[in-house]
Amino acid sequence: MTDEELMKIATKAKEGAYCPYSNFHVGAAILCKDGKVYTGVNIENSSYGATNCAERTAIFKAVSEGKREFEAIAVAGDQIDDYTFPCGICLQAINEFMPKGRVILSRNGEIRSFDFAELLPFGFRL
Ligand code: THU
Repeated sequence: MTDEELMKIATKAKEGAYCPYSNFHVGAAILCKDGKVYTGVNIENSSYGATNCAERTAIFKAVSEGKREFEAIAVAGDQIDDYTFPCGICLQAINEFMPKGRVILSRNGEIRSFDFAELLPFGFRL
């Protein structure tokens, strides 16, 4: 699975976003070490704080299905001229499950892969 393919899956997943408050659709696709891919979307709530981001939805789906080892996660938001960068809570969730993984983001159609450690260099890791 290439980074481009994973980003394509994340972009398609975005259509399932539940975002009546922001109208900002986000899709994520997480690639497990065994090759399986789980998607996620942002799921908003009228009490804004209860919103779940696309990244965490994807991670939680995969973890709840027994997956523990991950290669990369791609994130696609509605904006095209800048990366849809994971929020602090999602960085923490990514840190928990894939501190050595990669985060794939897109800007103006150009796909870029970041080592997660670049995004949260001082994350707490046992
Ligand atoms: N959002 C995500 O799902 N992932 C991100 O990386 C950035 C933000 C969602 C949260 C909220 O539903 C909407 O995008 C606007 O912030």
